Amino acid sequence: MSAGVAAWLADTRVCVIGGSGGVGKTTSAAALAAGMAARGLRVAVVTIDPAQRLATALGLDELDNAPRRIEPERFDVAGLPLGDGELWAMTLDPKRTFDELIERLAPDAQTREQILANRVYRELSDAIAGSQEFTAVAKLHELAQEGTWDLLVLDTPPSRNALDFLDAPDRLRSFFEGRALQTLLRGGGAGLRLLGRGTGLVLGLLRRVTGAELLSDLSDFFRLLGGLLGGFRERAEQVEALLRAPGTTFLLVTSPEREPIDEALFFQRRLQDAGMTLGGAIVNRVHVDELEGDDDTLAELPSLLEREAGLSPALAKQVAAAFIDEHALARRDAGNVAHLREQLGVDAPLVSVPLLDDDVHDVAGLVRLGAELFA
Ligand SMILES: Nc1ncnc2c1ncn2[C@@H]1O[C@H](COP(=O)(O)OP(=O)(O)O)[C@@H](O)[C@H]1O
Ligand SMILES: [Mg+2]
Repeated sequence: MSAGVAAWLADTRVCVIGGSGGVGKTTSAAALAAGMAARGLRVAVVTIDPAQRLATALGLDELDNAPRRIEPERFDVAGLPLGDGELWAMTLDPKRTFDELIERLAPDAQTREQILANRVYRELSDAIAGSQEFTAVAKLHELAQEGTWDLLVLDTPPSRNALDFLDAPDRLRSFFEGRALQTLLRGGGAGLRLLGRGTGLVLGLLRRVTGAELLSDLSDFFRLLGGLLGGFRERAEQVEALLRAPGTTFLLVTSPEREPIDEALFFQRRLQDAGMTLGGAIVNRVHVDELEGDDDTLAELPSLLEREAGLSPALAKQVAAAFIDEHALARRDAGNVAHLREQLGVDAPLVSVPLLDDDVHDVAGLVRLGAELFA
């Protein structure tokens, strides 16, 4: 069953693209967003670290950590008129997203300035923003709150483990509720002495904040932060609720190799356990079988190429070898896709996207990829 991704997203307001690193999440997110915009929707896509060439092709050079409208002409010339639809895109700036969250949660302007200028905060926010998973969902939540988008598409960070993303709200919450921080909060600077080893994040950042003013910075920080804890906890809960909301869907991207497919299946079970929705799976960069699986043709291929294409015997052998390699890869891919289909259930929405000749780094490439996704 595959009516293309447009059918999967019919009732979707928020679409999160998950999967292992390097499988094509960022390109799929952009192609998907463009395709839905071409269906008349007002779409925003939040990408994370897109390749420079892709960002440039979309005109995302100016980074203000908010979606910018992509000039429709860029898609017109590539043969995908957006019509009444709108495509907006941004590249996530994790540090700024975190600062903006603090600004929003701070009770007044003075507290806000004090926190942002505090050295302990700066080290802490670098550490948290560095993980990207939380800031990505924080941004998603903020855009969802704006309520002006028909569809939000979120690319996910290139984490080693795709599941880090699902755990992000929880990890932030447990950090703020954790014993290390609570001890520090109660004891102010003096609480430091009570801490053992193994509170890596807090101690790691404290090691970088040195100097005579450390203790005053520290106690300021904890006093200021104390007033924000409730807001943080609430925000983490809202973010988690958004990921579980009926209009929110996860799409898994995988390459046709066994390892990322197994990771995608693991991800799918985790989604299920967490009460989140799997909208579909995209198997990307699938080798296409030019020989259409006919084994008899393979043996005769060199002589066929000599006869029909007029190639020299040596060249015919070489060309045949390349075809046969491709055929083997296509066979392997087909087997892995069949495994995925079997595991997900025969009726599960799944689409295969062929390996294109070129990297996808311009609008024309996105349109080509989109044509496969929406086929
Ligand atoms: N179907 C495809 N055919 C050819 N190249 C592709 C295809 N999909 C993605 N790519 C290329 O693969 C690389 C990784 O894609 P990317 O979207 O950055 O992966 P991820 O975001 O999952 O790390 C990029 O260079 C991209 O242009
Ligand atoms: Mg990416």
